[in-house]
Amino acid sequence: MPAAVHVVSIDPQASTVWWANRIHDLPFDFSQEHETPENLAILKDSGARVHVIANQKGGVGKTTVTLNLAAVVADVLKGTDTLQHVFIDTPGSLQDENLLLEALKYAHDVIVPLPPEGLAFDPTARTIQTVIEPTGLPYNVLINNWDPRDGKADLEDTRAYIEAQSWTSLKSVIRRYKVHTRASVEGKVVTQYDENKPSFKAREDFYRLAIELGYGGGA
Ligand SMILES: Nc1ncnc2c1ncn2[C@@H]1O[C@H](COP(=O)(O)OP(=O)(O)O)[C@@H](O)[C@H]1O
Ligand SMILES: [Mg+2]
Repeated sequence: MPAAVHVVSIDPQASTVWWANRIHDLPFDFSQEHETPENLAILKDSGARVHVIANQKGGVGKTTVTLNLAAVVADVLKGTDTLQHVFIDTPGSLQDENLLLEALKYAHDVIVPLPPEGLAFDPTARTIQTVIEPTGLPYNVLINNWDPRDGKADLEDTRAYIEAQSWTSLKSVIRRYKVHTRASVEGKVVTQYDENKPSFKAREDFYRLAIELGYGGGA
């Protein structure tokens, strides 16, 4: 029985694989395709919606967002036996731009994680302006890794920057929680975190995001 959700990594650095291999009972199908990106065509032909997670700056949360969003969508679609959503995790470097461009050929839309820090703004703008916008694909910037304990200034500055660029963006924000950072070491996705308050909040962010995107039915 095919899973409702499939995660593909085309990152040659393969940190996604490293993570996925450590997760017990992966809630989605997983494949590594950086050597055979043309296989992505098969997934698009399946009729599933294909979402590319992209930002050519490393460390912005592409892998974190891909695996955890996929996990909550898989949870919502539990029991569905046809493929509905494909999430593609992409490289965080300019050298691998050809791989990103290949993935975009098969995409229906793009999610661009952006941390609320000025240093990430210019590289993100480059990815959006030179790689994503020319494809004409719908895209959404997603603020990731905001630490509420730092106050709202960084968040508001980031929202103001996004607005000044006239980028489309998501209302949902993925907050910074240690559980996310630890999760890759422990081999867990957000639906598998322990039951405690920070984990609950970390999970809540991804469910809220899935609902806003309309993934998982209902919308
Ligand atoms: N919302 C978050 N809360 C806590 N840590 C995060 C969050 N998003 C990303 N991280 C951490 O930041 C680092 C980079 O994230 P990662 O998803 O690997 O980025 P990318 O795939 O864009 O290179 C990782 O150690 C990850 O655990
Ligand atoms: Mg990554």
